[in-house]
Amino acid sequence: MQTLEMNGARLIHGDALAALDTLAPETVDALITDPPYSSGGMFRGDRVQDTGDKYLNTGARHSAPSWPGDTRDQRAYGLWCERWLGASYRALKWGGVVAVFCDWRQLPTVSDAIQVAGFVLRGILVWDKTEGTRPVKGWHRQQSEFVLTASKGPRNKAGADAPVLPRVVRCAPRTGEKLHQVGKPVPLMREVLRLAPEGGTVLDPFMGSAATGVAALEDGREFVGVEIDAHYFGVAAERLRKLGEVA
Ligand SMILES: C[S@@+](CC[C@H](N)C(=O)[O-])C[C@H]1O[C@@H](n2cnc3c(N)ncnc32)[C@H](O)[C@@H]1O
Repeated sequence: MQTLEMNGARLIHGDALAALDTLAPETVDALITDPPYSSGGMFRGDRVQDTGDKYLNTGARHSAPSWPGDTRDQRAYGLWCERWLGASYRALKWGGVVAVFCDWRQLPTVSDAIQVAGFVLRGILVWDKTEGTRPVKGWHRQQSEFVLTASKGPRNKAGADAPVLPRVVRCAPRTGEKLHQVGKPVPLMREVLRLAPEGGTVLDPFMGSAATGVAALEDGREFVGVEIDAHYFGVAAERLRKLGEVA
């Protein structure tokens, strides 16, 4: 496992489960992550589908390569989520917060896994991707994804000046540079990260191009990120290195 340290970030190139086991217990303030969704993994065809074919609109041009780990059927996905959420639980401080992205198909599985791992489920944040998203004739537009929120034990008491956070975040998927096939916009991640304590350490075991990392560092937090794919590990490292040059 390769580890890089830069500008308040620690980046680990390797499998999330192996990497999470190396983290010292009770050292992280927030788990904010966008794991592979393994969406629609009921049929073998879904599980072997290339992520570009699966998640990009027909005809969408994209230079970012496909990525691994999106291959599990429903039951295996639940078991796997329980494992990495359990390993993350050990790394989180008491009172630490959790935000996990998922789509509508995986909501029940991920909310179960969060609780099996020991966290207290807190709610669902809606990411409104705007009307620019895929229309479905006679049905609802594919306009939303979800972020399940949780905490390790009771939440830390909010100060009198703590903000009230919106439960719906409206943000178009393609704002700025798109460095990953399913990369999240940094403004969206900054909004999600408002859950994390100021100056705290944010963990993302599936960092991809490190949108979570950029949002964390830009707002004065520390970041620990893990990525299994060599291409995306390089993209994340370069992105966070450049951030240090600008600062
Ligand atoms: C949905 S993408 C994350 C995209 C990220 N939020 C961004 O904005 O770029 C999930 C990432 O998890 C990585 N991944 C898949 N399996 C993994 C594993 N076992 N350990 C660590 N990373 C993994 C994939 O390579 C992919 O880049």
